Amino acid sequence: MPVAIPRATIKRLFIYCRALLESRETEVISSEELSQLTGFTAAQIRKDLTYFGQFGTPGRGYTIKDLTHQLKAILGIDREWEVALVGVGNMGRALVAYEGLKTQGFKVTQLFDSDINKTGMFCAGLKIKDIKTIKEEIQNSAVKIAVLAVPANAAQEVTNLLLEAWGISAEGGSASGGKAILNFAPTRIVVPAGVNVLNIDITNELTRLSYYLVQPT
Ligand code: NAI
Repeated sequence: MPVAIPRATIKRLFIYCRALLESRETEVISSEELSQLTGFTAAQIRKDLTYFGQFGTPGRGYTIKDLTHQLKAILGIDREWEVALVGVGNMGRALVAYEGLKTQGFKVTQLFDSDINKTGMFCAGLKIKDIKTIKEEIQNSAVKIAVLAVPANAAQEVTNLLLEAWGISAEGGSASGGKAILNFAPTRIVVPAGVNVLNIDITNELTRLSYYLVQPT
């Protein structure tokens, strides 16, 4: 059975990868140097990497080019992902305008909204399509990732439309591989197994910060 990789490890891999991309002027990096750049211990870095096989040479370190290449492949950021965004309001517009998405390989190619005052208009060079057309549009695209920036009471309905568009039944499984949803709506959405959902909530993060303000370490 394949070893389950802890989510915390995956999060750290992104941080290692970013640090490596920023240290391109040297050829080799040791786990101690990577530790200084990322704030994680060298032992933690070595442990995280061993989940994926043998990297680097003992006593010499890692070849930056090779490790970056391998980490990008592991994280699936060695390719471009087409992304659909549903809900072109304040949050949706800010996300589409964010250049960092494209530079990290996430290209928003489809925008959907239900507001007739928005559909047919353009945002960041993309036409906002009517949510009613999402099934045919997604079916004819390479979109495997959707971002939900709709109000909480519309999130499940939009999710169901997406699942239908992807040909995913209530029992899960899709003819064309895994799918993912990044959900900004402050509600839990129900999806079958095989669909990855990541809920983003800035308020949660602020709550964590406020905790550290009242409980200084
Ligand atoms: P907004 O009201 O400006 O935009 C929502 C958009 O969704 C509108 O354009 C609306 O026409 C569209 N919409 C509504 N029902 C729809 C449907 N069934 N299908 C397609 N489009 C639909 O709201 P805003 O400020 O952009 O927030 C969007 C969501 O993000 C909300 O759920 C909000 O609570 C959440 N949010 C989350 C944050 C976070 O940290 N995760 C931070 C800020 C907002």
